[in-house]
Amino acid sequence: MQKILIDGGGTLRGTVKVSGAKNSCLPVLMTTILAEGEHRIRNTPDLVDVRTTCKLLEGLGAEVSMARGTVRVAHNGLSSHEAPYDLVKTMRASVVCLGPLVGRYGRARVSLPGGCAIGARPIDQHLKGLEKLGAKVSLSHGYVEVTAKRLRGNRIVLDQPTVTGTENLLMAAVLAKGETEIRNAAREPEVLQVAEVLNQMGAKIEGAGTQSIWIQGVDSLAPARCTVIPDRIEVGTLMVASVMTGGKVLLRGARADHQTALIEKLTEAGAIITVHEEGIHIRAPGRPKPVDLTTQPYPGFPTDMQAQFMALMAVADGTSIISEHIFENRFMHVSELNRMGAKIKFEGARAVVQGVRHLSGAQVMATDLRASASLVLAGLIARGRTEIYRIYHLDRGYQRLDKKLRKLGAHIRRSQAQPPTTVT
Ligand code: EPZ
Repeated sequence: MQKILIDGGGTLRGTVKVSGAKNSCLPVLMTTILAEGEHRIRNTPDLVDVRTTCKLLEGLGAEVSMARGTVRVAHNGLSSHEAPYDLVKTMRASVVCLGPLVGRYGRARVSLPGGCAIGARPIDQHLKGLEKLGAKVSLSHGYVEVTAKRLRGNRIVLDQPTVTGTENLLMAAVLAKGETEIRNAAREPEVLQVAEVLNQMGAKIEGAGTQSIWIQGVDSLAPARCTVIPDRIEVGTLMVASVMTGGKVLLRGARADHQTALIEKLTEAGAIITVHEEGIHIRAPGRPKPVDLTTQPYPGFPTDMQAQFMALMAVADGTSIISEHIFENRFMHVSELNRMGAKIKFEGARAVVQGVRHLSGAQVMATDLRASASLVLAGLIARGRTEIYRIYHLDRGYQRLDKKLRKLGAHIRRSQAQPPTTVT
């Protein structure tokens, strides 16, 4: 069991290279199910979730190897169509193998992803969409089984934009017979990249990145050859870290066009952000100003940046209101931030954050991926030492965030430790 130790007070300065996007890499890896041959996916981040996805593909019968940021996936037809419980329980995104498996092989058996710390996270939209394409869906013994002779194109209207739901249905429709339209589709850059990779493989998709996507089914696809886009949430997290410490940082490889809502809010908080050929430069004179925000589907403010932005607002010069509209329980970081001296209280789905001048270091517990990032950010500026336990949450979605921050001047390191005994 590892923990992260941070001595607050370092100012971040310098250049950092951002990693490939976790939430693009995972579904892009699943596209390899759709075609035989040798697939190569470059700029993959070295994350626990990426390794889990590679294990899942191996379990389906593919040969998978990772070297210098490139994942190679090779198979001449998969021997299994099942994503087992012991993998899915560690990574709910495993559910994105459903669409490609039933699209290419006519069957899939995937352990139902339970809820997680941030919410119930049902997959009803995924399953309703697959049924619309002619699949038979049945639930038994905690597994969802999906079968179809060959999927047939149809019109799918999602009740709400779902990122992995849109990706699952895209990957199911590309080999279906006839045309499919997905209405109320998610518009995230990661969804757009999945569609671009599928088109490079020979699919016929138009409108990805908008709310209506049109797919003309084809008979077969060629192997994927692509480069994963930069991780906009890692970029956002590093931008917030720079502002909180009053630093000056160049995020090399970052794409400003993926960050418009966050850039807007950080600018409102007083940051000075300039976009360059090689990336995004950010500096922050003085104490942040209070900013209200509501999380929304892309291109609105991303829910994956809510916890990190709240750490910034915890030391703002005034009170801000942060509303979480995507997940029903994504305020797990609040109690730990309050233990560090923040003044945050709840009003329903809103958090009222009264900015304080200083936070104080404490022993804190990470509860989910982005909550752990927000505790790291708070530790960077807290007076004294912060110890963060259960940092396996962090390693699921950030490639050595502690190392990147240390390179920029933070006093942060990992150490082995028994977690503090928690009162249950
Ligand atoms: C993706 O999760 C991301 N994960 C999440 O990132 C991200 O927070 C989320 O999109 C929202 O942007 C990956 O891409 C691997 P949704 P996903 O389906 O697809 C409800 C991180 O920190 N819903 O867009 O699971 C759902 O409960 C992770 O990197 C249904 O009700 O999210 C939620 O309230 C966390 N039924 C809302 O829609 C469904 O069938 C949006 O969820 C599907 C979703």
